[in-house]
Amino acid sequence: MQRIEWTPEMSVGIDIIDEDHRRLIVLLNDYIDAVDADEGVFVFDSLFCEFFDYTGYHFAREEEMMAKAGYPDLEEHRRGHQTIIEQLEGMRRKVMLSVSAGMQDEVRAFLLDWLWVHIMIKDQAYAASLQDHFSKAA
Ligand SMILES: [Fe+2]
Repeated sequence: MQRIEWTPEMSVGIDIIDEDHRRLIVLLNDYIDAVDADEGVFVFDSLFCEFFDYTGYHFAREEEMMAKAGYPDLEEHRRGHQTIIEQLEGMRRKVMLSVSAGMQDEVRAFLLDWLWVHIMIKDQAYAASLQDHFSKAA
């Protein structure tokens, strides 16, 4: 089944953010592998929660860095992050209640789509601005 793989084009040019994104990719692939192996709802939920928790941790890091850099679109990113957290909470309910493979497929498709858009589009928007700030600060 479809997974997501890290590619150099995903880099935002800031090591700690790239490391977070790589970690999110690993955690999402772990969940996908568990679904493929039909490991059961408790394993799905445990892996989903690891992904969810790390997403919250990563968002907090991004917001803190954007604030330090004085990034002007911080509020828009913060709202986007909040929307995703709410959507992921809804997805967790689906993970727990699902008895069909189709439901896990829906969750997987959502997560793959979201993470790709987050890394390749949303975060590229702040990349230059944060690189500029943190390279000067270093
Ligand atoms: Fe990110």
